[in-house]
Amino acid sequence: IGTKIYYFDSIDSTQNFALELSRKPHENGSLVIAERQTQGRGRLDRKWVSPKGGIWLSILLRPNFEPSYTSLFPMLTSLALSVAIQKTLKIKTELKWPNDVTINGDKVAGILIDASIESNKIDYLVIGIGINFKIKPSKITSQIKEGKKYGITTLVKKNQDGNPVKLIQQFLLELEKSYNDIISGSTANIRKEWMKRSSTIGKNVTATTTTGTIKGKAVGIDKTGALLLSSRGKVERVLAGDIAYKR
Ligand code: BTN
Repeated sequence: IGTKIYYFDSIDSTQNFALELSRKPHENGSLVIAERQTQGRGRLDRKWVSPKGGIWLSILLRPNFEPSYTSLFPMLTSLALSVAIQKTLKIKTELKWPNDVTINGDKVAGILIDASIESNKIDYLVIGIGINFKIKPSKITSQIKEGKKYGITTLVKKNQDGNPVKLIQQFLLELEKSYNDIISGSTANIRKEWMKRSSTIGKNVTATTTTGTIKGKAVGIDKTGALLLSSRGKVERVLAGDIAYKR
């Protein structure tokens, strides 16, 4: 991962560039990174404001996995990022299902995964990571949609020093480690580590999905990365969507 790097001062979206790369051969593991994006994309068709001071990058992967593994990638990526932040900046973060990284409940990074599945195999995955590295939170308020129960924050404050390159390098190392775990078939560890860092498990959660709203207590994550909510004596699986809970 990251043996080939495309760097831009400004680009529409690193995610879109990486999606273009997916049409070419020999781009497995390529990394696209930009100082700022003019058309950054967030999950669920939201805009992602990406001014200078953040880390905006996308990685193209062509794993030889079954499609069911796709949903592990948000977990794997957010976990790798949380570990890398702790190792390089000594900052503790929490993980919010499906893939937000937060500090005391405020979002500091988001992950967007575009997957293409062909004839029951993953053709490619583009993993997009947006980190508010050193940005004034007031510049990026629109990263958070109205009505969300949490705010946004930045990793490094105005007068603090911080090295984004070290963080990126460590993140790539951690990502590659868990990627190799999946290749060797050991996914249990990723789930365990994710749950350890998660702020979601144990909370009373309201989940908004395409089919409606489910309320329940978050009791775990299953093998496919789905959130398990215990609700009126039953366990419901939430595959995708947004969740809210009190801090
Ligand atoms: C989210 O909604 O939380 C996910 C945000 C993902 C943003 C990143 S920044 C790099 C990459 N390029 C994009 O256009 N989006 C992702």
